[in-house]
Amino acid sequence: MKKTKRESHPIPAKALLAGACLSACAAFLIYMLRINAVFIDSTVFKGFSAMLFGGCILTAAVLFTLFLLQAYHIQKRGTELHIKKSFQVLAKIAFIFMGIFVLYAAFTVIFSDFEMRARLRTVIAAALPSFSAILCIILLAWGLPLIQKKTVRCSIAIALSGVLTLSVVLTLFPCYTYKFLSDPMVIDNGESYSVVFATNDSGTGFVEYTYQGENCKVYDEAAGRLKNRTVHTVRIPKAHLNGNTYRIGSTRMIEERSYGGRSGKSLLSKDYAFAVPNGGTQTYLTVSDWHLHLQEAYNTIQYTGDYDGVILLGDAVPGLETEKDIAENIVAFGGTVSGGVMPVLYVRGNHETRGPFAAALPDYLGMDRFFYTADYGDYRFLLLDSGEDKKDNHPEYGGMVHYDKYRADMVEWLETLESSDKKTITLVHDSDLCVEEDLRERAEVQLQKLSATEIVSGHYHVCKFEQENGFNIYTDGGYKDGEYIASKLTLTTDNYHLSAWNNKGEQVFDKEIVW
Ligand SMILES: [Fe+2]
Repeated sequence: MKKTKRESHPIPAKALLAGACLSACAAFLIYMLRINAVFIDSTVFKGFSAMLFGGCILTAAVLFTLFLLQAYHIQKRGTELHIKKSFQVLAKIAFIFMGIFVLYAAFTVIFSDFEMRARLRTVIAAALPSFSAILCIILLAWGLPLIQKKTVRCSIAIALSGVLTLSVVLTLFPCYTYKFLSDPMVIDNGESYSVVFATNDSGTGFVEYTYQGENCKVYDEAAGRLKNRTVHTVRIPKAHLNGNTYRIGSTRMIEERSYGGRSGKSLLSKDYAFAVPNGGTQTYLTVSDWHLHLQEAYNTIQYTGDYDGVILLGDAVPGLETEKDIAENIVAFGGTVSGGVMPVLYVRGNHETRGPFAAALPDYLGMDRFFYTADYGDYRFLLLDSGEDKKDNHPEYGGMVHYDKYRADMVEWLETLESSDKKTITLVHDSDLCVEEDLRERAEVQLQKLSATEIVSGHYHVCKFEQENGFNIYTDGGYKDGEYIASKLTLTTDNYHLSAWNNKGEQVFDKEIVW
């Protein structure tokens, strides 16, 4: 029998509300997941992510509007609204789009790799209080008056008010104890030491020590104004710290304002006894490409035994999206493995040249540039920065890099160096040195002149030793398929020794090379 217009079944108000809420959640996830679509956005279809996000918001708005129409009709007339066919068609189309968006978000989350899931956790945790507050306000304002039963209405009102209050409180007042994330990391920046440490919330930072009978307290500041952030950096002359003890301190800043402000708990660390590697035999831990896999790296490093210094060969993260990336994956990691008592040589990885916080990395780490030399007794480290591993116009960089000029400057600087009688190890993230062939050739010629042909590097996530064009190139490991490999470099006057372990404690490399 043919259905009449009056006999058609309207879509229930509850379903419309659920669809609107799901669309809003999908819009939130799609916005957070937009980094996954960077290739589509920059090569195939510019604006793909924006279109998905906009479509999702529009779908949520349509479903919520239909819900309001339906629900107010029920409240006013006591019956469900027999909406016009065009409205029903609109609702069905909106539900189809909602399903597509939800499936897209769900599949993207399910098939995201470890790095993407870690990124998602961070951004969702940061945005969740504001998102929850907005959703609660909308539901309280428009949804609540539509609920017929008083007890249900009261219960939902109490629950939404609770979530709203909690969101506001969590946004305005930190509810966790202020603490250091790890021991500090003392970076040898070539000119001086940068004592870098991280806290779990924003605050000020300082380093204090006694030098030649004088008490010194050096703040993390710029032109007299203390910096308020989670990564704290203080530059100290090398002579002040060598063989000395120091402490780090920080005061939480709950609210920094132009007039006044509100501070919280102050922290002061234990004493750190700092010593530089010296003598004929020196040992260094070398690690690269941990790519957020901190625990696997820590599990491996426990097998490498003692060392006098730390060499970080880059690629701590997929990209520097937030200050937290620097705080947790570079600073706290370097602090944990060095214990704040030995120098750290930091080589920038190509993944640290990406993201909105990449340009600020030199400032965060107290470094003017990432190519320099550092001498310890009879040995010299020559640190180079290979920058990105692709040409500057690659769509992945979004027009935000100028590394060709930077690498040219580095090679020009390299060509100004004089030969040294010290045994030299060249440290670089990518042993290809430069993506520009002419620059690579110039760099190789100069390294040969400087007798700096022993290269220790990362980037390829494997542990291997190769001999090419008169260079001995060691790639020190990194993370791959659940395995992390870290290496130890031992320098002696006759040779240098390379050894490596994985996170199961198995030794995977052992080789001695005569200088
Ligand atoms: Fe890399």
